[in-house]
Amino acid sequence: MNQRDFRQYVNWEEGLVDRSIFTDPEIYALEMERIFARAWNFVVHESQIPEVGDYFMNWIGSDQVIAVRNKQGGVSVLLNSCRHRGNAVCRAEQGRTKTFVCPYHGWSFGLDGELIGVPGLKDFYRDDLDKAQWGLGRAAQVESYKGFVFATMDAEAVGLGEYLGDVGRVGIDMIAERGEMEVIDGVQKNRIACNWKLAVDNMYDWYHPMISHKSAVQAKYSPIFDDPDHVFAPNTQMVMLGEYGHGIGGPMFTREQVEEVSSAPDPHAVDPFLSARLAPKVSESMGPAGLRTKGHPNIFPNLWITLTGMQMCLRIPRGPEETELWWFTFIEKDADETSRKNVLNVASHMFGPAGLLEQDDGENWEQCTRGTRGVAGRRYPLHFGMGAGHDTVSTDGGQAHIETKVNEHGQRWTYRCWADWMSAADWPALRADHAAPPTDRV
Ligand code: FES
Ligand SMILES: [Fe+2]
Repeated sequence: MNQRDFRQYVNWEEGLVDRSIFTDPEIYALEMERIFARAWNFVVHESQIPEVGDYFMNWIGSDQVIAVRNKQGGVSVLLNSCRHRGNAVCRAEQGRTKTFVCPYHGWSFGLDGELIGVPGLKDFYRDDLDKAQWGLGRAAQVESYKGFVFATMDAEAVGLGEYLGDVGRVGIDMIAERGEMEVIDGVQKNRIACNWKLAVDNMYDWYHPMISHKSAVQAKYSPIFDDPDHVFAPNTQMVMLGEYGHGIGGPMFTREQVEEVSSAPDPHAVDPFLSARLAPKVSESMGPAGLRTKGHPNIFPNLWITLTGMQMCLRIPRGPEETELWWFTFIEKDADETSRKNVLNVASHMFGPAGLLEQDDGENWEQCTRGTRGVAGRRYPLHFGMGAGHDTVSTDGGQAHIETKVNEHGQRWTYRCWADWMSAADWPALRADHAAPPTDRV
């Protein structure tokens, strides 16, 4: 299995993907090693753990981790597994503490994971235990980008800046450049019986809304659906493809819209969203193409940011056919109560367990996963080839991007990069041998 060339499972040119990658338990186990234990995974937003001792629990693949504000003011990312017998040392999803005390035999650990207390150290261990050697396991590297804290379990991983590249940065900027942001307390979590990759590739899928979400549109539950063509913008789409599998795909502001807003006497009155993007600091950070995207970024492997930059979602694998979705909702720190209520209202009704859209999506992903399980069914690859070979990458302004209509370039790119990650023996091999983002035809 480990020596398999996973590029055989993905045909980039035609957009064909072998169905077995969605249910095969051996492939899933290798994904935990080769993707999640190597990648930079989002673990916490700094606003969630402002004070020393504040912590938030998360997952890095199959490992549960505690992201905790340490005494130096940094963030330690610790494995939630006692070094004695492996028990969980923390049971709450978030909170504040001075130490993590294991409920089994009482070993206690400091905010940096160091072992500070062992009941019976003198009497039972006869002082024969070097505490310095038995602290909690920890992430190999932890870094923050504009308040978004990422961690990797691989000491050889490239730095976070190189990992994110231009596309990953622009994706996070869609939230970070809105102002001083904080996560509203209460991460919404629910499980869907699907493979995590099907939930990931859906981020780029602007083909399904008018079909899958037609009932939501017809119900006009939100004023944004008064003109679905405007929201889903099937004919004005932009795609940005980044190194290591990051991408952004979805509607865009056209050059004409940018021109109209930037030359208006009061740009905010014409389009508040776009006029905020045109502010010098924001446009400089996001770049000439980045500031025009209204698509969905995915920070590979599994962090989705919504097009308004109001929410983001982790698609956390919990088995080949089980995915946990964690929704984080953002708001400007200085927002008034009315805006806060509005944001929460949308956040509760659009996505998440009670979200009108996510109920449609979850049902589809479950059935797609089930459909990849059959012995005979697996003989037929899935099709991700919409638009393949028909579009051109522009580097106008220095940022590679594709302006087109509804397409499946983002999905194809995700699986192509997935195959690179799965085929590489280690980080140096991945760094040396992975697909460069396309610069001509896609
Ligand atoms: S398992 Fe934690 S103290 Fe024994
Ligand atoms: Fe959807």
